[in-house]
Amino acid sequence: MPKKMTISKIKNAKGNKPLVMITAYDALFAKLFEESADILLVGDSLNMSFAGKSDTLSATLDQMIYHTNAVCNGSSSSFVITDMPFGTYMTKEQALINAVRVFQETSTDALKIEGGADKAEIVRHLTCNGIAVCGHIGLLPQSVRSEGGYKVKGKDERSAMSLVNDAKEIEQAGAFCIVIEGVKADVASLVAASVGVPVIGIGAGAGVDGQVLVFSDMLGFFESFTPKFVKKYLDGATLVKNAVATYAQEVVSREFPSEQYTY
Ligand code: KIV
Repeated sequence: MPKKMTISKIKNAKGNKPLVMITAYDALFAKLFEESADILLVGDSLNMSFAGKSDTLSATLDQMIYHTNAVCNGSSSSFVITDMPFGTYMTKEQALINAVRVFQETSTDALKIEGGADKAEIVRHLTCNGIAVCGHIGLLPQSVRSEGGYKVKGKDERSAMSLVNDAKEIEQAGAFCIVIEGVKADVASLVAASVGVPVIGIGAGAGVDGQVLVFSDMLGFFESFTPKFVKKYLDGATLVKNAVATYAQEVVSREFPSEQYTY
C-alpha cells in the first residue's frame, strides 16, 4: 500500500508528478481506489450519481459527513478531501462552524469550497483556524441554477484573467491546491503556471498539475449524460446489467443456487 499523501507532498508534486484524484462516496469503492489515487474526493456530486438528484445543491452537511466517514473507513491510507455543500459557507463564521464540525466528526484531511476571489476571505478564515482548504474555480456546479446551466469558462480574455486572479487570491488565502473545472485548456494551463500550488483539472485539458474525475462517470455507471471531458475506462453499466440479468435468469430457471452454493 502506498504511503498516505500529505499536504506538503501534494504541494511538492507540482512540476514533478501529475496528481491523481478521483471521487469516492463509500468504503467499498474507496478501498478499490486507494492504491492508484493520490487523493479521494468526497464530492457533492454524490447527490447526482448516488441520490439521483439533478444537481448538487441539495446535498447536506450530514450527508457529506456520513459519506466521508464511509470513505475514511474504507481507505485509511488515502488523503481525503470533503466537499462543503451548497449553503454551508455563506459567511466566514458559518463556514468555520461547519468546517469544524466536519473535522470533528470525520477524519477527512481537507475541505473543498467552490468560488474564486469572492471566497478568498472565507478560505483565509478557515486556513487560519487549522482547516486545510482546496479551492475550486472555473465552472462551479453549485452555481448551476444561478448561471442557468453548466457553462465552460475562460472563453475570452476577461474571463481568462479573472480565473488567473481567482487562483492567485485563493492561493494567497492559504489553499494548498485548487480544482479547476470546465475551463479552456490554454487558460487552465495559464492558471496553473500563475500559482505555486497544484491546480487539478476536470474538463480543463492536460496542461495542469493533475486530473480529477467523478468515479461513476469514468467507470461508466452513470448513464444520464456523459460530458465531453469524461473518458469511460469501464462500461460499468453494461457489466452490472448483464450480471444481474444472468442472476435473474438463473434464479427463475433454478440454476442458482446449485450444490456449490448450498449448505
Ligand atoms: O463534487 C465533485 O465531484 C467535484 C468534482 C467535479 C471536482 O467537485
